[in-house]
Amino acid sequence: MKPVFPTSVLITGATGAIGGALAQAYAGPGMTLILQGRNEDRLAELTAICEGRGARVLSYCFDIRDVVRLRDSVRAVEAQVPLDLVIANAGVNTNIGPSGTGELWEEVEALVDVNLRATLALVYAVLPAMRWRGRGQIALISSLAAYHGLPMTPSYCASKAAIKALGEALRGWLAAEGVRINVVMPGYVDSAMCRDMPGPKPFLWTAERAARVIRRGLAKDKARISFPFPLNLGTWLLSVIHPAVAQRILGWLNYHA
Ligand SMILES: NC(=O)c1ccc[n+]([C@@H]2O[C@H](COP(=O)([O-])OP(=O)(O)OC[C@H]3O[C@@H](n4cnc5c(N)ncnc54)[C@H](OP(=O)(O)O)[C@@H]3O)[C@@H](O)[C@H]2O)c1
Repeated sequence: MKPVFPTSVLITGATGAIGGALAQAYAGPGMTLILQGRNEDRLAELTAICEGRGARVLSYCFDIRDVVRLRDSVRAVEAQVPLDLVIANAGVNTNIGPSGTGELWEEVEALVDVNLRATLALVYAVLPAMRWRGRGQIALISSLAAYHGLPMTPSYCASKAAIKALGEALRGWLAAEGVRINVVMPGYVDSAMCRDMPGPKPFLWTAERAARVIRRGLAKDKARISFPFPLNLGTWLLSVIHPAVAQRILGWLNYHA
């Protein structure tokens, strides 16, 4: 298949580790980057780096839970630059705490708003123009945690499983119209979110390595971009064996409260 090279890329959560590495991986002459995040200083710093590499950068600093603003921003961007690639990357995590007390409801609500509601709002804001043009690409950042729920992060796993299913369904629906949808399932990638998460983190990758693999997979329009291989295989197996056996294995591997 012929590789696809976008000239305009929108990235949410660009102020984070993976989003920032993706922005830098795509930055170059002839590229327009639309970068979103909440951390104003980090956004300004990243904008300067990407502009230094020759990219034109439009930056948007706001809380992505404000889906009205999110949809308005997408419309404003589309009026200036037709979007070739949209990467729905912003995300948060919660956990049940070191002694298994449980997730805080306020954090669960925020997680659903960022990981799921804002992702859906973004997808449905960019789709009409992409469908009208008969081309475009949307990458949804899920996680290997979508394969089988991990006891320490129930809501996160649920949100990422929903994103995986969303991407698979959209890909089946929109392929015939020329709109490409890709589900990205990273394993552990060094970031603030990853460091905050309890439990073992085998096969930890740098964000730069993850961004290279994601960019390559998107150019090839891979339906699923999942890595690293050993963890992908292990977590996929957990989803196909009996759930009782899967839970036992997770316990042996120290994935419990
Ligand atoms: N790191 C991993 O091990 C791993 C594994 C699998 C999947 N993922 C997924 O990869 C994606 C990126 O995560 P990361 O590891 O790069 O984490 P990160 O460094 O903590 O970055 C998270 C990003 O999401 C943004 N964000 C969070 N809440 C937001 C809100 N309410 N409004 C606007 N932006 C918000 C953050 O923006 P601000 O910092 O500006 O607030 C930040 O840019 C997430 O979807 C995550 O679930 C990560």
